[in-house]
Amino acid sequence: MKSYRIAPSILSADFARLGDEVRRVIEAGADFIHFDVMDNHYVPNLTVGPLVAQAIKPWCRRADGSAVPLDVHLMVEPVDALAQMFAGAGADLISFHPEASRHVDRTLQLIADQGCRAGLVFNPASSLEVLDYVLDRVDLVLIMSVNPGFGGQSFIPEALRKIALVRQRLDAYRRHSGREVLLEVDGGIKVDNIAAAAAAGADTFVAGSAIFGQPDYAAVIAAMRAELARVV
Ligand code: DX5
Ligand code: ZN
Repeated sequence: MKSYRIAPSILSADFARLGDEVRRVIEAGADFIHFDVMDNHYVPNLTVGPLVAQAIKPWCRRADGSAVPLDVHLMVEPVDALAQMFAGAGADLISFHPEASRHVDRTLQLIADQGCRAGLVFNPASSLEVLDYVLDRVDLVLIMSVNPGFGGQSFIPEALRKIALVRQRLDAYRRHSGREVLLEVDGGIKVDNIAAAAAAGADTFVAGSAIFGQPDYAAVIAAMRAELARVV
């Protein structure tokens, strides 16, 4: 079976007890902790900054002590200063929207220079063209299956076609470079559509409301893995 990662988005967690929520969702089987940063400028919503990332970082561990990567999704403009602050706060992966950076290649380098893996995020209407030029610096491609800014929106089915296009490109890239780039999908992922996203080619799945909206996080994550196990 292929390897898949489930990345619960803490956007839908109880912010009054965030450390405990992170611990519980890791116990429930989370592979990444997805951390949505919104600035009320690039997107019309405001969430959390580097101080909160730093506060939850110690909780990003399994009971056996192994680390769970902190997957920071920046919906901010401009990007560079905040990317550096999140690197300092303990981010393992930092993704940004290319439209929000004046110099995408430079921002990717800057994230790598801080010792983090770098990701590019594509909105539903964004073209993938920038990937033609910077793939060597990209560790993760994140396809938005909703418009960024809010949790709890419905999955936009057209995202599947885009995921399939990126899958082809990443497979071709792996064949000649030997390098594996993650393909993450974010927005409206539920137990009933995760298999379709995986069949299209995604390997990493963000889910906010689907997990934190239910009392039993482990049951949702197990149901998602059962769906993924059926994908050929
Ligand atoms: C949206 C965020 C998502 C969001 C996903 O801008 O990037 O990560 O929290 O939430 P759900 O799974 O509820 O669509
Ligand atoms: Zn996100």
